[in-house]
Parts: sequence; structure tokens; C-alpha cells
Amino acid sequence: MEQEENQDGSGFKSNLGFILAAAGSAVGVGNIWRFPYLAAKDGGGLFLLIYLLLVFIFGFVLLASDLALGRKTKKHAVEVFGFLNKKWNFLGKLTILIPILIITYYPIVGGWFLKYSYDFLTGNGNQTISNNFFTNFLSSPYRSIFWTLVFFMITACITFFDVESGVERFSKIIMPGLLMIILGILFYSLGLKFTDKNNITRTAWDGLKIYLLPDFSNLSLKRLLEITLDAMSQLFFSLSVSMGIMITYGAYVKKDINLSKSIRQIELFDTGAALISGAIIIPAVYVFLGKDAMSQGPSLMFISLPKIFNTMGFAGQIIAVLFFLMVAFAALTSCISITETIIANFMRIFKWSRKKASVISSIFITFGLVIVCLGYNLFYFELKLPNGNTAQLLDLVDYVSNNFLMPMISFLTCIFVGWVIKPDFVIKEMEENNGF
Ligand code: PHE
Repeated sequence: MEQEENQDGSGFKSNLGFILAAAGSAVGVGNIWRFPYLAAKDGGGLFLLIYLLLVFIFGFVLLASDLALGRKTKKHAVEVFGFLNKKWNFLGKLTILIPILIITYYPIVGGWFLKYSYDFLTGNGNQTISNNFFTNFLSSPYRSIFWTLVFFMITACITFFDVESGVERFSKIIMPGLLMIILGILFYSLGLKFTDKNNITRTAWDGLKIYLLPDFSNLSLKRLLEITLDAMSQLFFSLSVSMGIMITYGAYVKKDINLSKSIRQIELFDTGAALISGAIIIPAVYVFLGKDAMSQGPSLMFISLPKIFNTMGFAGQIIAVLFFLMVAFAALTSCISITETIIANFMRIFKWSRKKASVISSIFITFGLVIVCLGYNLFYFELKLPNGNTAQLLDLVDYVSNNFLMPMISFLTCIFVGWVIKPDFVIKEMEENNGF
């Protein structure tokens, strides 16, 4: 985190420093990988509508509560609930579980981005166009473990040597760069069309309509609940709320920073990145693979984007390298914030030094990552999840943390703020600078 000394010993240098750090944690694989495949699976427009409603109502309140709790008490997430009410100590402890679960698969997705960057960089990008390329890659245990560990080792070294501020300096250039490149790909990809072997021509505009226009036909209550739960899980994951991270960030925010304005900016940045990614990936899947391919799940971006880059000729190879590297960087900043939280929790709970906490946590994380990677080959299974997805180990961990634990923690946080400490606690903190 970009900090300067204040009377509390630390703090963000500026409003921008805080927004960049929080947005760096928020924007990651959730926006570029998870959001589009959930939106596609849930039929596009309706998911989008529910997601947007949730972000601006629920997301705002959750971010506000987390940041206000942190800023007012200047406490770390594990301590804050117990500090305000002894009986609620368990909630702080519960938040520890989320980063621990997420870290067992986040670097795996980061590794996929690195692998694709490498393939395009070494001139093998055209191989990635084949529909089986991604599945073949996952079913090879060594290759997927290799790229996962490369990604995680980079994260572990940065956290071990405590050089996050160096990374944040790069993020001022790379994050706007990523935004420019995805906007560029969006404008290009909207012109795509494809005629398949049955002589049916599909255009990106038709794909965009599926993405943007809610389809209420055949909507059952069960389906509506499934979509809402998916959208909610995405909201928690994407905004990095309900897992203690934003409480800790809040503790570093100075009093003169306007919290509500900052929250709106973080939400806009995070939601904007997700919306654009969806607008690239969903029409591309529709154009090249048809509507039936929409429920591909986690592989969606990896089977659709290479097809877009392929239509760009040689420029596509360069754009692909830049795109996958920048996305890997965005994933890295989020992964650092998850790892940092785990280290900080270990330091507080076990009274370990930073170095000891980072070495021990890295060993356990490596172990967890290898097991989850093996979920695509050695430990392969197919499990039907309540949201209709067919899950392997990675999806199962993702489901438990995002669709089960996070809603539970958010619900308990709402009760805590609403009835235990009372909403005025948060409202007063938010009103410190110019109100909402
Ligand atoms: N919000 C990040 C993303 O969208 C993921 C993340 C989850 C980061 C939890 C920090 C904590 O990729």
C-alpha cells in the first residue's frame, strides 16, 4: 500500500493512492475471467441487470461498512468485531477463511494468463485457437502446476521482500493501459461476424444484444434465485468485500478522505472493467461458437479470445501478448492483497514475524495449489453444483467461498452493523467528509 506516516503510523498518501490500492485489489481475474463466464451461463442481460442493481445498492453498503469499520477503529479485520462487541469476535475469525480458500485457486487462473502470454510471445499463439487447447493444457498436471507455481512464486517473493509499493508504481501505468487495450479490443470485436458450416452467419451485435438485453421468457423462481446468488457471489469476489480486506484498507485511510466518493470511484472502475470484458467475450463466443457454447464455464475466455486475436493477423499476436501480460499483472496485484491478508492474519494470531508468516503460509499455499491443479487430472470429478455448474475441485472451492461463506459473512456483518453497533456508527464515519 502506498502510505505515508500520519499520527497512526501509517496511511494512504492521497485519495488517489487509496483508490488505486483498493481498485488494484478489486480489479483482477474476477472481472476478466469470472464475470463473463457467469454472465454467459446465466443468459446475459438478466444477470447483468441483477448484478448492477446489487453493486450500486448492496455493494455500496458493504464497502462503506467495511471501510468505515476499519477507519473508525483503526483495527485489523480479525480484531474489529471483537473489539466492538466481545460476543462477535467469531465473525473476525470467520473472515480469515475466505482469503485462505481463494488463494488455493487464484494463482492457478493467474498461471493460465502467464501460459497464454508465453504461447503468444513465442509465436505459438495460433495453437491456442483450437477448442481443445485449454482442456488439454489443464489435463496435463505438470504444465498447469508449473505455470501456477511461477505465478505464485512471483507473488510470494513480492510479499516476502515487502516490495508491494514498487508494484503499485507500475500499476499506475499498467491499469490504465489495460483499460485502453480492452476498450480497443471491444471496438474491434464488435465488427466481427462468422459464417459456420451450416451457412449461418452470426454477428457480434446479436451477441451483444444477448449480453445486454434481459430475457424474461421461461424464467422460473428457481432460476431467478440461482442467477441472483451467482450475481451476489460475483459482487463479493469482485469488490473484495466480506473477507476483511477492505476493513484493513479502511484502517489506513485518513480522516480527510471522502469515503463515499472513493467508494463510487472504486465501484465504477471495478464494474467498468467487468462490463467491458463481458462485452468482448460474450459476443465473441456467440459469433464463433454459437449460443450453445455460452455455458462453457471457466474456460470461456480462453476459448474465445484467441479466436478474436487470430482475426487480427500479426497485430493480434502482439496485442494478445500485451493483453494477457496486463491481465496477469492485474491478477498479481489482487493476489498480493490476498496473500498479504493471510500473512497479516498469521502474524496477529500466532505472533509470528513477517518473514516467518510468509514462509509458512507460502508452503501451505503451494501444497493447496498443487492439490487444486490436480483436480483437473489426477483427482478429476464432475460435481453438479446447485447453481447448475458442473464443478471440478477449483469450481467447488470457488463455490464454497463465494456462494456460501461470503453471503453468510455479509449477512452477519449486516446484522452486526444494523442491530449491534447500529447504522449510525457507519453513517457518522461516512459523513466525516461531505457526507454521502
Ligand atoms: N477482487 C479480486 C478480483 O476480482 C479478487 C480478490 C478476492 C482480491 C479477494 C482480494 C480478495 O479478481
